[in-house]
Amino acid sequence: MTDLIRALPKTELHVHIEGTLEPEMMFRLAARNGYELPFSTVEEVRAAYRFTELQDFLDIYYRGAAVLQTPEDFYDLMTAYLRRAADDGVRHAEIFFDPQTHTARGVGFEVFMTGFREAIADAGSTPSASLILCFLRHLSGEAAAATLRAAEGHLDGVVGVGLDSSERGRPPRLFEEAFVLARSLGLHAVAHAGEEGPAEYVTGALDVLGVERIDHGVRSLEDPELVARLVRDHVPLTVCPLSNVALRVIPNLADHPLGVMMDAGLLVSVNSDDPAYFGGYVADNYRSVAESLGFDDARLLTLARNSVVSSFLDEGEKKTLIAELESVHPEGTRAS
Ligand code: ADE
Ligand code: ZN
Repeated sequence: MTDLIRALPKTELHVHIEGTLEPEMMFRLAARNGYELPFSTVEEVRAAYRFTELQDFLDIYYRGAAVLQTPEDFYDLMTAYLRRAADDGVRHAEIFFDPQTHTARGVGFEVFMTGFREAIADAGSTPSASLILCFLRHLSGEAAAATLRAAEGHLDGVVGVGLDSSERGRPPRLFEEAFVLARSLGLHAVAHAGEEGPAEYVTGALDVLGVERIDHGVRSLEDPELVARLVRDHVPLTVCPLSNVALRVIPNLADHPLGVMMDAGLLVSVNSDDPAYFGGYVADNYRSVAESLGFDDARLLTLARNSVVSSFLDEGEKKTLIAELESVHPEGTRAS
């Protein structure tokens, strides 16, 4: 099964580059930059990765990101992720980054964008990669719009905007201005919604922010009318099973509604979210759900196909990847 999972051409559409910072790299960059971490060993860091909810994780995650200071740091981070992704059979990645996590520390756009861009260029097309600039939802809507204005001039390689961080009590409408601006710049739009927040935040992200894809969206299942709309409009949901369990959105993998979502006709893909924190990269996520939910090869193929269909690649690129996917497994794939 692992061989098939690796062999399937797939995309990854929900991965936060700051969430790929492995503890070993955290220590290496801290030493390189003379930054003092509140941990003394890798084991201590890993032991701290026991979360009871999203906020627990975010607190530690933003602290870890402070070791990222120079273009070389961002280059190393991106390069390591792209290598891992290539090993997992990822052919194209649309990668989130959180500018406000860095600008708040005095690390400017030119620093991180230079590192990201050079790493993506050096990886060639294995995998191809584009960037999605995320606004931090615990900060204000004004700060989000100001961040996008500051980003103009640095948007080479950026295909869209997203919305992440603490969801509860932070409805999508707070970020309308930033998303209107993003769409006027020709950027795609996605948003985290229905992870810890209610199904109505998924509706709000679609109606108010005009997003084309929902990140997570597992709580959409609480609203049958919303599910019918997502199915009818083929709205992609980027689901992250290991993340959902690590952040206690879902009690355990055997209870994960991924199969229910597929059976309902939702266009779901499998992604890693913050692999350094949640115990696995994208192929680990495929393997974990396949084992826990008893998925057969046809289901895995459907997930890989959905990941291609849900991407911002152009139609010709999607067709090429799907043809390749079908040649890996001649039985072909079922629609979503
Ligand atoms: N930022 C990084 N990972 C996230 C998640 N799972 N939810 C919201 N914001 C995030
Ligand atoms: Zn996420």
